[in-house]
Parts: sequence; structure tokens; C-alpha cells
Amino acid sequence: MSTNVAPRMIELVHVERSFRRADGTDVKAVNDVSFVIPEGEFVCLVGPSGCGKSTLLQMLAGLLEPSDGDIVVGNKPVTGPGPDRGVVFQKDSVFPWMRVIDNVEYGLKCRGVPAAERREIAWTYLKHVGLSHVERAWPRELSGGMLKRVAIATVFANGGRVLMLDEPFGALDYVTRHQLQDVLLNLWNADGAGTRRTVIFVTHDVDEALSLADRIMVFRSGNKVDDIAVKVSRPRTTDSLLLPEMVEIKRKLLHHLGLDHAAGLDAVADEAVA
Ligand SMILES: Nc1ncnc2c1ncn2[C@@H]1O[C@H](COP(=O)(O)OP(=O)(O)OP(=O)(O)O)[C@@H](O)[C@H]1O
Ligand SMILES: [Mg+2]
Repeated sequence: MSTNVAPRMIELVHVERSFRRADGTDVKAVNDVSFVIPEGEFVCLVGPSGCGKSTLLQMLAGLLEPSDGDIVVGNKPVTGPGPDRGVVFQKDSVFPWMRVIDNVEYGLKCRGVPAAERREIAWTYLKHVGLSHVERAWPRELSGGMLKRVAIATVFANGGRVLMLDEPFGALDYVTRHQLQDVLLNLWNADGAGTRRTVIFVTHDVDEALSLADRIMVFRSGNKVDDIAVKVSRPRTTDSLLLPEMVEIKRKLLHHLGLDHAAGLDAVADEAVA
């Protein structure tokens, strides 16, 4: 029997989350979601706006409590944020009052890592993302793409075994977005088989999910409606996206997003049901 199966890193069991709207009605943002993610897997969460992706990520990050169900990360129930889990939000996760290098090493400083050691780690990751030349710069001096590089360097430097990214490249132009996808994949891949971090990456962009993911989970109205393995080898090129199996997955994703027919843009907006 094969023993080559990665241990489970994340487990969700019947997780739900409701919110009370300002008008007093309830909305179920996440509805009875269960899944297991093995260590080292790169998972993309895809689904229309409002389907519960950020809510799910915030619960995994320990920033939001489930209304029901259990979340286990690395064999421990999630009861709050922890250094085992790093998050990059859509809006820049960079402190504007700290220089670039101080941003990258801040989490390590908080955990008492000695100055020389944390500087070395921060420097290594800044180099990885191509920003060693701006280590002393202030965030206001950087472009949007550079700020994202800082956020990625920071989340890797912090050493969390689970990294969660919520539409991190959504606001970037096409070319910068592709560059950043490469930066992220190279960093993830550099740890090597057996030691890679587990990544949960939220995106609206079907091609981004196809380029990045080992597995794509699709959400609609708070429910997980599909879970698709992407077995195409890496590095993936623009040609990889044209392989028949990729085209088939893309067809499925577009169908889930309501974009496979002349449905109009209304079909993309989702509304979680109470
Ligand atoms: N704090 C809150 N109070 C009330 N309703 C909320 C709250 N947070 C989220 N919701 C609702 O929960 C549902 C899911 O929201 P969520 O932000 O998780 O969606 P999403 O999939 O991340 O959408 P997007 O792609 O637009 O970021 C939506 O209907 C939203 O209005
Ligand atoms: Mg969101």
C-alpha cells in the first residue's frame, strides 16, 4: 500500500456561519461546509461575489467564529488567530508607518525572534520577491504590485504552515497579476515536496485558479458545490491552459459562475439565502 499520502492539515466539519443583517433578517453566509485539505496542497476557492469565500477564510484564520461545526488546523481546533496561519487580504496588509524590512520582520519580532535572525529571514524573503533594493523604503513609495510583494514576503517570513490569501491580486493589472502569481508559486514551490505550505487562495478569476491550484473548490450561496482536482503538471504555461483537461475544468467553472451562456452579468452576483 502506498504511504505517500500527505497528513491532513485542515479539516472543516459541517461548518456554518450566519449573520444578522441591519434589517433584522439573517443571512447564512456559509452553509454546512465540510472538507479536508492535506498538507502542502494549493487550493483555490472560487465562487460569485457574496457566496461566503471571505467568511470561510476569516473563520479559518480564527478572526470569526463559526455559528456551528468544527475547524481543525494542524490537529488543533481553531479558537483564534495564530502564527501557524498567515493571511493576506485584498486590501494591502502592510503597515504604512514601518519601513519595508520592518514590515516583513514584524511578526517574527512579536514572537521574540532575535534581531539578527529575523533580519536574515526578512532579507531572504525580500530577495525572493525581488525587493531587496527597497528594504529601507516606506510603503508609500511603492507601487501596488510592490506592496503585494511585501505582503507575500511577510506572510512567508512569518513561517505559518497555512497561508490564506483573499483575492490578493484582484486590484492589479494583467501583467503585474501574472508576475505576482509566479512570485507566489515560486516561493511555495521552493520549500520542496513534503515541506510545502498549505495555501488557500480566493479568486474570482477562473484562469488564475487554473494556473495556480492543485484543487479548486467552488462555492455558491454558502454551499460547496464542486471540488475539482487540477492534475496538470507544473510549471503551467499559457499552453497548459489550452490542454483538453484544463478546458474541461474551465467549462465547469464558468458553468458554476453562470457564465456559460448569455445569462448577463446579473448571474455573477450571488446572494446567500437566509
Ligand atoms: N459582518 C457581516 N454582517 C452581515 N452580513 C455579512 C457580514 N459579512 C458577510 N456578510 C454576508 O455574508 C455573505 C457572504 O459574504 P462574503 O464576504 O463571505 O462573500 P465573498 O464570497 O467573499 O464575496 P466577494 O467575492 O464579493 O468578496 C454575503 O451575503 C454578505 O453580505
Ligand atoms: Mg470576499
